[in-house]
Amino acid sequence: MKQLLDQIGRKIDYLRISITDRCNLRCQYCMPSEGVEYKFHDNILRYEEIIQIVKVGVELGIKKVRITGGEPLVRGGVVDFIRHLNEVKGLEDISLTTNGILLGKYAEDLKDAGLNRVNISLDTLDRDKFKMITRRDNFDQALEGIKTALKVGLTPVKVNTVMMKGVNDDEILDFVNLSHNNPIHVRFIEFMPLGQSKELSAARYISLEDIRNQIMKEIELIPAMVKSSGPATTYKVPSGQGTIGFITPISHNFCSTCNRLRLTSDGRLRPCLDSNLEIDLHDENGKIIDVNDIKDKFIKAIMLKPGHHNFLEERGESSRRDMFQIGG
Ligand code: 5AD
Ligand code: SF4
Repeated sequence: MKQLLDQIGRKIDYLRISITDRCNLRCQYCMPSEGVEYKFHDNILRYEEIIQIVKVGVELGIKKVRITGGEPLVRGGVVDFIRHLNEVKGLEDISLTTNGILLGKYAEDLKDAGLNRVNISLDTLDRDKFKMITRRDNFDQALEGIKTALKVGLTPVKVNTVMMKGVNDDEILDFVNLSHNNPIHVRFIEFMPLGQSKELSAARYISLEDIRNQIMKEIELIPAMVKSSGPATTYKVPSGQGTIGFITPISHNFCSTCNRLRLTSDGRLRPCLDSNLEIDLHDENGKIIDVNDIKDKFIKAIMLKPGHHNFLEERGESSRRDMFQIGG
């Protein structure tokens, strides 16, 4: 199988697919509290179109896909979609990023349909704080989602925690304990200035190097390996069942090993989270282009992949889209 390299020799084998910009939470850093401008259903790719695009991607070397949103489990038909995705030859790994709320309901069916594993976004282990951060009172469902994912074997189960100064930096050891007492892989993520979260990120950002040092003062951490750990640097408490990872897009960027492209729910290939550069897969009549043209656009997107992000550039043109519109 052909394997495309980008202009600086990076192997692009991972496609993150956003299937909706809708969400059942309203995380402060991601969505406004009300008046969210959703795409009309007509502008969202149909599942068959996504499968077609994935097939082209696989011909060009894509081996792994991750389904994201918004919240992917709020879109109807997602279980059947995963089943069809699982039939695409050459695809080696299908994962999903979710806030976990609907996992209690869907985890088992998703596993049966061929989903390998999930990443669950959870920024706090405190019910009241969850309500404050997400503007919804669904903490118990999120925990239930994690439990169900473990039970049905959507493993390794990863929990993604965006670290925010003055919000959840007092819970670091609680998260370390969560990974110690359960086969859960917690990954702390640095707060990125995306879309509407720019100011909040300036106020709340903390470097994860400081956090790691803080943990290491109190607890012994040893390097650990986790399957598909991506850009995370991973450790564990020697007696721990799970691990803790640090994802540091801001303090130590991992752009030089970035292997991913994103497909937005409205049909655009996005080479970099931070860059507004997007390749539209529609023609002038708003129809998805045919297979050969998708292939050309795919190659173009890979070739246009920026060497690195510009999150820290004052004058850089940073992302106009929020995470829910891009796919995490
Ligand atoms: N910085 C870091 N992570 C973010 N996410 C959403 N917005 C940001 C941001 N500005 C995370 C969510 C979820 C994943 C999809 O992306 O918390 O874990
Ligand atoms: Fe929804 Fe995820 Fe955005 Fe929170 S971060 S509002 S869970 S899409």
